[in-house]
Amino acid sequence: MPKKIATGIPGLNELVDGGFPEGRVILVIGGPGTGKTIMASQFLYKGMYEDNENGIFVSLDERKEHFFSEMLQFGRDFQKAEAERKFAFLDATRMSRVLMLKEKLFKEESRSLRGKQLSMDRLIEDFQVKIAAIGAKRVVVDTLAALVYRFPDPIERRTAMLDLIESLADLNVTCLVTTELGRLSLERNALEEEFLVHGVIMMQTLFSGGTTTRAIQVEKMRGAKVNPSLVPYSIDQNGIEVFPNMPLFGEQ
Ligand SMILES: Nc1ncnc2c1ncn2[C@@H]1O[C@H](COP(=O)(O)OP(=O)(O)OP(=O)(O)O)[C@@H](O)[C@H]1O
Ligand SMILES: [Mg+2]
Repeated sequence: MPKKIATGIPGLNELVDGGFPEGRVILVIGGPGTGKTIMASQFLYKGMYEDNENGIFVSLDERKEHFFSEMLQFGRDFQKAEAERKFAFLDATRMSRVLMLKEKLFKEESRSLRGKQLSMDRLIEDFQVKIAAIGAKRVVVDTLAALVYRFPDPIERRTAMLDLIESLADLNVTCLVTTELGRLSLERNALEEEFLVHGVIMMQTLFSGGTTTRAIQVEKMRGAKVNPSLVPYSIDQNGIEVFPNMPLFGEQ
């Protein structure tokens, strides 16, 4: 059994049987604004400063400066962590913009899967280099949802995601990968990515009686006795906290 890694999110360890399995890939699924980026960065930050595990944030949708300033609001100084070589930020947003631009300019040529696949291989190489450079033990990829624009074709996209998740699993680091929940169907169909990862955590905002409640659920964690209940969580100036023993809507 893999060692457990403290999640860095108060209350979450209790739901996942003590922590995330070391070296495995965990998928965090949630709609816009549910706190995926905050959760993922909290996992990295606590790792760096409480567990002596360096971290890498691979961003597919946010620039570094934006990420730094957003996280400072929660008292997390990633710029300082970067200077201390505990942290590295990998900006993978440019790649997607360049690709999209190229596609517009040279429609036929760069539409080829090969071109896209090359850039995906390049991304994987880039983070292997960064991981080695700072001896990272934790990696975040935020967010797979951004790949939808790069790979509009579902089959190409699945191949790209498979590649990415497989190479993450090979790296021997604990990975949190975020993705978005399609908002089309009420009865949710399992996302393809869910079958490829070791664990799945779902974050959502529920509406009931005129109030909204944030709710989190561990849908799977291979090899662990999880608590599969849907329980509340909050976001405040300290970040995310999960309440594993609290009922979802007020008093019972
Ligand atoms: N200080 C704070 N107190 C309470 N809630 C906050 C605070 N700061 C941010 N939030 C909430 O956090 C949420 C944004 O978190 P985050 O950016 O992690 O979400 P996300 O799931 O990554 O969203 P996106 O899909 O846009 O990437 C927003 O709903 C916002 O209301
Ligand atoms: Mg986000």
